[in-house]
Amino acid sequence: MQSRLFFAGILALAFASQPLLSQSATPQTTGPLQDAGPAAPESQNGAHQRRPLTKPVNLKVLPKDIAPEDLITVMRRYAGALGVECNFCHAVNPQTHKLDFPSDAKDDKGIARIMIAMTRTINDQYMAQVHDPDAMPADTHVTCGTCHRGHSMPEHFTPAPEQHHRPQAGAAPQQQPQ
Ligand code: HEC
Ligand code: HEC
Repeated sequence: MQSRLFFAGILALAFASQPLLSQSATPQTTGPLQDAGPAAPESQNGAHQRRPLTKPVNLKVLPKDIAPEDLITVMRRYAGALGVECNFCHAVNPQTHKLDFPSDAKDDKGIARIMIAMTRTINDQYMAQVHDPDAMPADTHVTCGTCHRGHSMPEHFTPAPEQHHRPQAGAAPQQQPQ
C-alpha cells in the first residue's frame, strides 16, 4: 500500500514536470498530456500546491464522508494508475481557468465512476472469495493499475506467437500461408 502510494506520487511528479521539459526542441511523444489544453498544466500545478481540501459536494460512488485528504490521496492514485493528470477527468472552468472538481462536464469522469464501482464489485464479490496461499497482500485485490498499468486506455495484449497453444484443427485464424 505504502509503496504503491509512493510510486503513484512519483508518477504524478514525473508527469507534472513534463510541461517544463516539453519546452525543449524535442517533440513530445508521450500521450497522456496531449489531452491537456494550453491552460491545463498551469491549473494542474495550482491543484498540487493548493490542494482543494474543502468538503466534496458531488460524490456519487466514493463515500460521502471521506476525509478531504483521503480523497486527494485516492485521486492521486487514479492519476498515477492511468498515467494522467487531474485534468484528464476534471474540466477546466472557462472563467477561472482552474479545475472545477465537482463539475461532471468531462465524459472521463463519468467513465471513472463506473470503473470505481466495477473495481469495488470485483474486489467485494469475487476477489474476496479467493484465498490463494501464494498471494502477497498486494495480489489479493484489483486496483485501477491492475488493468491500466500507467495508460489511460489499457494496452491491447496479444500473446507472443510461440506462446500460442497448438491450434485445433479448423480453428487456426493465424496460420501461415503454405
Ligand atoms: C481517472 C479520473 C480522475 C482523475 C485522474 C482525477 N479524478 Fe478527481 N474525481 C474523479 C471522480 C470520478 C470523482 C467523483 C467521485 C464520486 O462521484 O464519488 C472525482 C472527485 C474529485 C473531487 C471532489 C469534487 C466534489 O466536490 O465533489 C476532488 C476535489 C477531486 N476529484 C480532485 C482531484 C485531483 C486533485 C486530482 C489530481 C491529483 C484528481 N481529482 C484526479 C475522477 C478523477
Ligand atoms: C478489469 C480491468 C479494469 C480496471 C480494474 C479498471 N479499468 Fe478503467 N478501463 C478498462 C478498460 C478495458 C477500459 C476501456 C473501456 C472502453 O473505453 O470501452 C477502461 C477505460 C477507462 C477510462 C476511459 C479512458 C479513455 O481514454 O477513454 C477511465 C477514465 C478509466 N478506465 C478509469 C479507471 C479507474 C479510475 C479505475 C480504478 C477505480 C479503473 N479504470 C479500473 C479496464 C479497467
